[in-house]
Amino acid sequence: MKFLTEQNFPPIAKALLAQFFAMLLLGLTVFLLAQFVAPPFSDGFLLFLQTAYAVLLTTLFVLPRWWYLIQILLPGGLYLALSAGANPLLALVLFVLLVLVFKNAFLERVPLYLSNQTTRLALAQLARENQLRRFMDLGCGNGLNVRFMAEQPGIDAALGVETAPIPLWIAKLRNLRGGGTVLAQNLWHTSLFDVSLAYAFLSPEPMAKLWQKVLQEMPDQGFFVSNSFAVPSVTPSEIWQLNDRRQTKLYIYKIAEFRGGDLPPSSA
Ligand SMILES: C[S@@+](CC[C@H](N)C(=O)[O-])C[C@H]1O[C@@H](n2cnc3c(N)ncnc32)[C@H](O)[C@@H]1O
Repeated sequence: MKFLTEQNFPPIAKALLAQFFAMLLLGLTVFLLAQFVAPPFSDGFLLFLQTAYAVLLTTLFVLPRWWYLIQILLPGGLYLALSAGANPLLALVLFVLLVLVFKNAFLERVPLYLSNQTTRLALAQLARENQLRRFMDLGCGNGLNVRFMAEQPGIDAALGVETAPIPLWIAKLRNLRGGGTVLAQNLWHTSLFDVSLAYAFLSPEPMAKLWQKVLQEMPDQGFFVSNSFAVPSVTPSEIWQLNDRRQTKLYIYKIAEFRGGDLPPSSA
């Protein structure tokens, strides 16, 4: 479905459209069936049809695989909650809460998961060894990295930007006293001109575009570090494999090595 482009329709809008069209198809099916079989039809049958149509449309709308689970669970979950006497407003409240926390999972395809202490210690070590004084967490989640880096000796400024409302306010509160600075700002509108250590823990989705931004804006002495997601087709300056449970990999890019019209080392 070409007209449903990523720019016009974020995944959540496609998912809701799929459920909406599934409901229309369900209505049509019931109307046609009623010509041959006397209604009413069982709840289970109607629920099955709604879910099946939603899954079919999810395939047509080319949504990422994890959306199938949501599309399958949503009609059944709503049905169970309503038949258990739950207030229909509860579903709305839950939905709003989900959006306030995971807004960027829907809009930017970047879910919320958090860096661990081993990663923070590695970032501090990198900053110390290379005298990187201005830290920025691009999509700072709960603001713990910003707070931690602000407390490191040698760090002049620790900043974070975040757009998902609930993590943003948690991050702001966490950094209220003596911590770093957390801004309600989209990372794509954030200047990196005076950032010497930029850190991102996002997803594979934005990495190519983010790399362009980093290359255009960061100073030559700057370091860009991506947790878990490498920049496609660019060989990092270093990869640090951390000794934590998830064997975190930090992809480290020293900006000076990629500047000046030279090809990045071993760039594909
Ligand atoms: C995987 S979490 C990482 C959180 C934190 N950096 C950490 O390492 O613990 C990614 C965060 O980036 C935020 N995010 C995604 N896209 C963003 C954007 N365009 N502008 C600002 N924040 C964004 C998400 O809301 C989410 O909180």
